[in-house]
Parts: sequence; C-alpha cells; structure tokens
Amino acid sequence: MSSYQRPRGTSDILPGEVEKWQFVEGKAREIFKNYQFHEIRTPMFEHYEVISRSVGDTTDIVSKEMYDFYDKGERHVTLRPEGTAPVVRAFVENKLYGPEFQKPYKTYYIGPMFRYERPKTGRLRQFHQIGVEVFGSKNPATDVEVMMMALDFYREIGLKELKLVINSLGDKESRANYRQGLIDYLTPFYEELSQDSKNRFEKNPLRILDSKDKKDIEIVKNAPSILDHLTENSQKHFDTVKEMLDVMNVKYEIDHRMVRGLDYYNDTIFEIMSESKVFDAPIAVGGGGRYSGLVEELGGPETPGFGFGLGIERTLLAINAEGGEMPIAQPLDVYIVGLGEETNVETLKLVQTIRQANFSAERDFLSRGAKAQFKTANRLNAKLVMTLGGNELEQQVVQVKNMAEGIEKTIPLADVYNDFAKVYQEMMAN
Ligand code: HAM
Repeated sequence: MSSYQRPRGTSDILPGEVEKWQFVEGKAREIFKNYQFHEIRTPMFEHYEVISRSVGDTTDIVSKEMYDFYDKGERHVTLRPEGTAPVVRAFVENKLYGPEFQKPYKTYYIGPMFRYERPKTGRLRQFHQIGVEVFGSKNPATDVEVMMMALDFYREIGLKELKLVINSLGDKESRANYRQGLIDYLTPFYEELSQDSKNRFEKNPLRILDSKDKKDIEIVKNAPSILDHLTENSQKHFDTVKEMLDVMNVKYEIDHRMVRGLDYYNDTIFEIMSESKVFDAPIAVGGGGRYSGLVEELGGPETPGFGFGLGIERTLLAINAEGGEMPIAQPLDVYIVGLGEETNVETLKLVQTIRQANFSAERDFLSRGAKAQFKTANRLNAKLVMTLGGNELEQQVVQVKNMAEGIEKTIPLADVYNDFAKVYQEMMAN
C-alpha cells in the first residue's frame, strides 16, 4: 500500500495551488530581470564530489542528508541538495569566466533540491529553491544588491513580517584566529557536547555554533564572537556592507553566532527569517552569502562569489499565514453551451475558433443539460456564454450573453468565424 503513496517529505503541487507557485516564480523572474540576472538550468544530479567538496563533509547536508547512490556505471552521484555547487561547477566547466562574458556574471535558477531531513512544516525532502549567484565581484555593493533584491522580491509578493539577519565569517585568516579562541572556550565543556559536536571539535569547530542540540546551544551562548577576530580586510568589508545597508535604509540585525549550514562561505552571510506562527520556531525563508575560493576548489580561476537561495514552500507558507492574497484568478473568456448531440461538431468548431483567436474557451464534453452547463459556466467565471441548440444551428446563429451585464444577443456563426475578436469587443463594450 505504501508504494502507492508519494515518498515521505515530498508533495504533489496540484492545480489550484500551482498558480501560487507560478505567481511567485513569475515575480522572481520579473525582478531578477530588472537586476540583470539570467537564468541557468543545471542537472538535478551531480557527481558526489561536486557537492561534498563545496558544501563540506562535516555539514549535516553532506554527512546525513544526501540522496546519493551508485548508478549502473558505478559512478557515485547524488541528487543536488542545493544550487550553488552545481552552478559553480557549470561556471567552471563552461568557462563562463571567459572574456566574452559580462562581469560580474549574474545568474539565477528555480528548481527542486533534495535533502534527507526529518520532515515537518516547512521542511521537506524534495523542496524548491529560487537562487541567484554572482561571480567576479569583491565589491560589498554586490552583497547589498543581492540582499536588497531578495527583500524586493519578498515585498513584491506581499510578505511583510521578515527580518534580515547578517554576520561575517571573515576570511581564512580571521577564521584561523577565531578557531583557536573557540576551541579554548569549548575545551572545558568537551564532555558535555553532543556526539556530532565532539566529532566537529577538531575538524570544524565553527559548525558547533550551528548545532541544534539543546545542551550545545546553552554551551555556545557565551562563546567568543567571530566578529572580534576579523582581519582588517574582513572588518572593512563588513563595515562597508553595514554602512551601505544603513544608507539604503535597510533594517538588519547582527547575529555573531550565525554560521549557516554550508561550509563554502566567508565574509558576509545573511538569512531572512520569518517569525510566522505556522512554524514551530523562527525559520529562515532564505539565506546566502559570500564564497571566495569555491570556484578555485572546483578547478576554475580565482573568482569571488556571492549568492542567495530561498525556499518556495516556506515562502508560500509564510504568505498564507500572513493572509496575503495572490492575484491568481483566471477568468474564462467564453463558455460554450452546446445542447443536443447534433451540436457536437459545431461546438468543437466554435471552441477551437475562439482559442485560435487567442481567447480562453471551454465547452461541455459530457452531454449535460442546459442547467448543468450554465452552472459550470458560472463556476468557471466565464465572461461570455454562447448557447448553441438545434434551432440556432439550423439558423446558423448563436446566442451570446455577457454574464456581468446580463445582455444577450443573437449573432451569426459566420461573424464568429470571420472575426471573433470583433464579436468579443462588441459584447464586452455593452
Ligand atoms: P540554505 O540556507 O541551505 O542555502 O537553503 C536556502 C533556503 O532553502 C532555506 O532558507 C530554506 O528556505 C530552503 N530550504 C532548505 N532546506 C529545506 C528543506 N529541507 N525544506 C524546505 N525548504 C528548505 C543554500 O542552499 C545556499 N545554496 C544558498 C546560497 C546561494 N548561498 C549562496 N548562494
């Protein structure tokens, strides 16, 4: 029986719901266009190393949540858990750093991602991201541009109750300085740490700051701050980001314990949090940051990167919780009521003529009576209803009714076939 249910942590996005997705995706495309981002589409699966090398072996994503497997050719592949590593791989493989391309190179993607997580509200195994990546700019204005673009997007789709949280992870040197301070602080608590955190203690102590374990969270509350260990360059970068956000009147909070769940970041990182009550606790609807070194890691030339990803499911949950309305109604231009077997062919001709004139049209296929067909026309919000019975067919006319005004006219079928747009305009002008 369970084989006939969808896999845990996945969802069917049905008609009625999918229009909301189209609205959200459409808005993203519209806004990204204004910011001069171009779409990229990469495969849904990648070689395991593309992800493990960039997202990081000690992250939950790589160590616990990968949908990885060996294919029939014994290649170790994985469904992509996120979009950045695949896009960086594509950037390098297709030499998008070449002189013929505009710099910085700005690209975006929309699509499913896969993580083997414990499903709950806003957390799925197949979820969908809208993401952007910028290659080749060290300028802090890029950081701010991407954050503002994300905020523009949320505002455009009507989401209000959001909070921008930022932090800096510094450059390599900053993190090396910080690492020792953090280890010194954590050492007396070593035995009390969760097993995961013990494992990360030597390999990647910064990950401990991101632990979901209650005891770990208590312990790291008084941990030293990365922000006190930034090198001069990293400090300057972060100061400029903050200054630019201030100049642009963008409100933000600083959380020096935020590290994000992926290892490729340095300097600026950020999350956009929803405190909506549909979620058990405040949750990130989106997040991103700067990644220098990742392009080199995957075999490309030294290229700084900055990007952002947002979860479509979480975004929609937050919009629903705020009671946001999306303009998703799709009124029908014409419904054709065909009465009696003898009108079947003519109804087909009519409905096709109207569609070919670029109007939306529907008809009955189940030989239902007049009353049932009118009910359907109403339910579909038809602007015009055309009625074709035996008498009309004989006289080569059709009754056309403007549903909002209640006005009805008899119109020759020839007029409909010659120029439906004209008939439509005349009926709607009344
Ligand atoms: P991330 O924070 O792992 O970042 O994911 C971005 C967003 O995807 C999250 O804020 C959340 O809305 C959504 N998300 C993540 N996991 C799930 C899940 N299991 N179920 C539902 N939604 C989820 C990244 O993936 C980076 N690639 C973002 C980025 C782009 N950084 C630089 N460029």
